[in-house]
Amino acid sequence: MSDILRVGIVGCGEVAQIIHLPTLQNLRDKLRVTAICDVSTKVLDGVGEQFGVTHRFRDYRELVSSAEVDAVLVANPHVFHAEVAMAAIKAGKHVLVEKPMCMSIAEADALIAQEKQAGVVAQVGFMRRYAQAFTEAKRLVQELPDIRLARVHDVIGRNPLIITQINNVIRPTDLPKGAKEELLAKQKEMVTAALGPVQEPLDKTYLLLLGLASHDISAMRELLGLPKGILYAASRGPEGRTVSAAFDYGGFVCQFETSVDTVPRFDAHIEVYSPSRIVRVDYDTPYVRNLPGRLTVLEPGPDGMAQRQVSSTWKDAFEIEWLAFHENVTQGRRPKTSLADAREDLVLFREMMSLIQGGSPAADMRERVVARA
Ligand SMILES: NC(=O)c1ccc[n+]([C@@H]2O[C@H](COP(=O)([O-])OP(=O)(O)OC[C@H]3O[C@@H](n4cnc5c(N)ncnc54)[C@H](O)[C@@H]3O)[C@@H](O)[C@H]2O)c1
Repeated sequence: MSDILRVGIVGCGEVAQIIHLPTLQNLRDKLRVTAICDVSTKVLDGVGEQFGVTHRFRDYRELVSSAEVDAVLVANPHVFHAEVAMAAIKAGKHVLVEKPMCMSIAEADALIAQEKQAGVVAQVGFMRRYAQAFTEAKRLVQELPDIRLARVHDVIGRNPLIITQINNVIRPTDLPKGAKEELLAKQKEMVTAALGPVQEPLDKTYLLLLGLASHDISAMRELLGLPKGILYAASRGPEGRTVSAAFDYGGFVCQFETSVDTVPRFDAHIEVYSPSRIVRVDYDTPYVRNLPGRLTVLEPGPDGMAQRQVSSTWKDAFEIEWLAFHENVTQGRRPKTSLADAREDLVLFREMMSLIQGGSPAADMRERVVARA
């Protein structure tokens, strides 16, 4: 294999068109898109023409077995992630699977077992954890002598509020009638398979956790470790898309809050408080590329003043994520955002969903994660 990794993309929607394809074009010395797959011919040909990709498939099975492909980006809807990632791993391809890696712990276990057998690199697309502001924050948090409080906050406007203002995405408007309803039914079925019967709108709560909150919870775990337990979790609103929870770290509590609404803005941050230093990472929307991630450190300054130091960079988190993937594949390294790592989110989400539905908290989450890993 040459140093240039040949990437096949399954699912050429919003995230592929706005983010991954332009990112990969920018990284053409190391990564090249050689094949694409989408169930929509309109999307497939439109994206193929726009980005000059000639190997085009409507069935992902053909893409994952193509000799033109070394690695597969899984970027179709959540419900297909496990199925496509599994087929790619079985075909001996490296995989970068968009978050969420899959819908259930059972799917995660099957993927992890297959990954071990195949010996390929499988990485999960938590790009926020590759952002420079985050990795620097991690270094600073490790130096904190004593953490008293942490806060994870992700309250944003619905994606289309931003995307329709700035992008002209090719949409799959040619799919057969009923395709959308079929997808929603499959989604509901898979939520039930993951959690047992869930009353509406709590199925949407689980989807919110898998979709948006997986970014936050996985970053929280990398920054602070696994919580000992969850003190409470609650979902509110008729759409089930506002969640708050408190993670128990023993010496401190991490407050968590997430919601999606109709106010066009992006307000996502993690903040860690020690008695003499506050470290905070802010994220902006990923749909506007190269927006700086911001690291803020607040501490006592001279003459009784508070000193705020803000560092930002235009280095795109997705680029760093892809470069890490390239390095992991070419140097045979295990990604920090591995399948086993992402499984920990699923265990936390199952526990949160149990609490949201009136269950009692587990004695020690960490034992639970390890025992079932
Ligand atoms: N890392 C991030 O910040 C980030 C941001 C956005 C989306 N995502 C993830 O990426 C995934 C895709 O999101 P999106 O917003 O691009 O969705 P989207 O609906 O815009 O695009 C999905 C595309 O997949 C195609 N598709 C559907 N079923 C398919 C199948 N079986 N095989 C091949 N193609 C199929 C659709 O026709 C569509 O073009 C989601 O899982 C989402 O969570 C991650």
